[in-house]
Amino acid sequence: MQLNQRASITGIGSYLPGKILTNYDLEKMVDTSDDWITQRTGIKERRIVENGQITSDLATRAALRAMEDAGVSSQDLDVIITSTITPDHIFPSTSCFIQQKIGASRAGAFDILAACAGFVYAIAVGQSFVNSGAMETVLVVGAECLSKITDYTDRTTCVLFGDGAGAVIIQKNRTKHEILSTHLAADGSQADVLIMPGGGSRNPASLESVQQRTHYIQFKGKEVFKLAINNITNMITETVNKNGLSLKDIDLIIPHQSNLRIIEATMEKLGLPMEKAYVNIDKYGNTSSASIPIAIDEARKEGRLSPGDIVMLVAFGGGLTWGSSIIRW
Ligand code: ACO
Repeated sequence: MQLNQRASITGIGSYLPGKILTNYDLEKMVDTSDDWITQRTGIKERRIVENGQITSDLATRAALRAMEDAGVSSQDLDVIITSTITPDHIFPSTSCFIQQKIGASRAGAFDILAACAGFVYAIAVGQSFVNSGAMETVLVVGAECLSKITDYTDRTTCVLFGDGAGAVIIQKNRTKHEILSTHLAADGSQADVLIMPGGGSRNPASLESVQQRTHYIQFKGKEVFKLAINNITNMITETVNKNGLSLKDIDLIIPHQSNLRIIEATMEKLGLPMEKAYVNIDKYGNTSSASIPIAIDEARKEGRLSPGDIVMLVAFGGGLTWGSSIIRW
């Protein structure tokens, strides 16, 4: 049996909180409609944490499922890398809370912040640790409680976001799901198009910052929309080229679930049918870092991934940041 010499995904898990916030619920909160939200975003409902539930709680459930799937114990983990824009605290890192909750006392732990592209950034780091031989077993988590930074009085943003978590285990010398390459990009000149203005060193929390509602996600929707389609399309094309493949070799694209229309426009620009894109935004909305690992887990359970398939992960988010990862399933 041929063993992969490169880092591979050996376990996958996800967790969604049970509470559902539907478009009809939002109709009662802001001036919106199920029709508008469905047509402009493809979202029908999203999951929201119960009172007291925090990001590391969701992350821990997803992580334990991924570890069970990979057949690794907490003591096998060398490092935990979590991507989140809704950490339990600014510091310590959410990875440290996960480490404590799963009892991974041997593991190093740190977080990555690259907004909606964060899971792909975290995969890149985990993959590099494993490929270099520095680490054998890496837990990569994408987890978000976006409901905590969503302004439920602002109809232009609040319809989009949800909570959830997903996780993967990365190891070498396994026979499945080899990560062929990962590609990262950023454009800091566009930082203000997608931002939470309050709470950092520029604008620390104060009575004024709270009154001005700066501790919530803000975006220039139309600009993000266009930039996302162009950059994702280019990145997918570059990724297949760099791997000596062509677009028609892709079996499934698992995109960050930001807006169904962004996914549709991207597929159209690439000349690929929608059947080659995995979509679950209708059920969960945009869960930022968590959306790709949740989608991988569901795609696998639905039988959308077969051995040998070429699978493209691609994400775009605040920073701006974007990235791709190509996997031979
Ligand atoms: N319900 C009803 N009407 C609404 C709503 C709503 N929820 N939101 C906006 N509208 C209205 C607007 O006020 C506007 O009315 P007007 O024509 O009278 O001025 C009209 O609908 C059209 O608004 P647009 O902003 O032009 O709508 P658009 O088709 O661009 O869709 C959307 C808006 C869904 C936000 C889209 O632009 C988008 O998805 N952009 C990307 C969003 C984004 O940034 N995602 C990533 C963030 S995630 C992260 O990094 C954490």
